[in-house]
Amino acid sequence: MSLKSKVSSLKSPMSETTAQVTQRTVRTTLDARPRTSDFPFVLVNMAMTADGKIATANRQVASFGSERDHEHLLELRATADAVMSGARTVDTMKVNLGPGGAKFRRRRRQRGLAEYNVRVLVSGNGSINPEAEVFKHRFSPIIILTTQQTAAAKLNQLRALADEVRVCGKTKINFRSALRWLHAQWGVDRLLCEGGGELNAALFQAGLVDELHLTVCPKVFGGRTAPTIADGSGALPLAAAARFKLKSTRRVADEMYLVYEKMSRVRSPGAHRKGEFIAITNPAPGAKWTDRSLTKFK
Ligand SMILES: NC(=O)c1ccc[n+]([C@@H]2O[C@H](COP(=O)([O-])OP(=O)(O)OC[C@H]3O[C@@H](n4cnc5c(N)ncnc54)[C@H](OP(=O)(O)O)[C@@H]3O)[C@@H](O)[C@H]2O)c1
Repeated sequence: MSLKSKVSSLKSPMSETTAQVTQRTVRTTLDARPRTSDFPFVLVNMAMTADGKIATANRQVASFGSERDHEHLLELRATADAVMSGARTVDTMKVNLGPGGAKFRRRRRQRGLAEYNVRVLVSGNGSINPEAEVFKHRFSPIIILTTQQTAAAKLNQLRALADEVRVCGKTKINFRSALRWLHAQWGVDRLLCEGGGELNAALFQAGLVDELHLTVCPKVFGGRTAPTIADGSGALPLAAAARFKLKSTRRVADEMYLVYEKMSRVRSPGAHRKGEFIAITNPAPGAKWTDRSLTKFK
């Protein structure tokens, strides 16, 4: 990165308004990819502390971003056909996953989207709390993705709560087929995932996240059990890590707004750029890429 571009990405907070930052983010994410695939374009948006936590260890505090960050979340929702969250997020946070006020609904209509986004909840064994806030708001369809782990009685309970319940997987949700189904059956072209860490991890692991939007907030929670943006069992070899490229950085007051875009796991040797971790050694035909085939290009 040149000195000039480094400086411009750390402009003084007064030099750019929140609305400008948000509009720019929205423009770049909307330009990200022409819709040709049978999968939705998947964005993950999370606020995290400077030490990478998304809630305190006791999970009592999970809203710690500024009002600007909240506005940013609604702006991103206003680009998406559907918003998705995991069961523990829906249980612990008072969220309705809706589009917000008239201004955002107008933007949705201007973009040719439905006024209210579809809401997708993920609950592998159907443990989602039926009293959760999200079920108290009936402005748009609620879809629950679950697995065969959910007992018949629970499934019936979920069917009474949601507009559709889709069983996709034995014990874990098969997000590839779930997302293809959301695209085909519900017309979801852009899917915004808002956590938590377990759900995000499954999407990262399946290689389904196209863009990662992070707001880094000036706080440190600590706590080894505090959730992070991607929990689950994690990638073990380096080659299994989800790989991203930094697309934009903006500072507004004390928060940093970062956007990462997906890098394909393996790029052909020669296509690399200085400073990127890329595959430089072709494995034998049919063999898997390993950590040892990855190195830093200097
Ligand atoms: N700072 C932020 O931006 C932010 C945003 C969102 C959430 N949060 C915080 O994050 C915490 C919640 O995160 P979390 O990681 O504990 O929970 P989560 O990801 O919200 O939900 C986990 C649950 O979702 C279901 N699930 C997720 N992946 C699945 C898969 N591959 N297959 C089947 N089921 C799957 C399971 O439900 P079942 O148990 O029903 O099987 C699982 O227990 C809360 O404290 C919340 O406040 C913070």
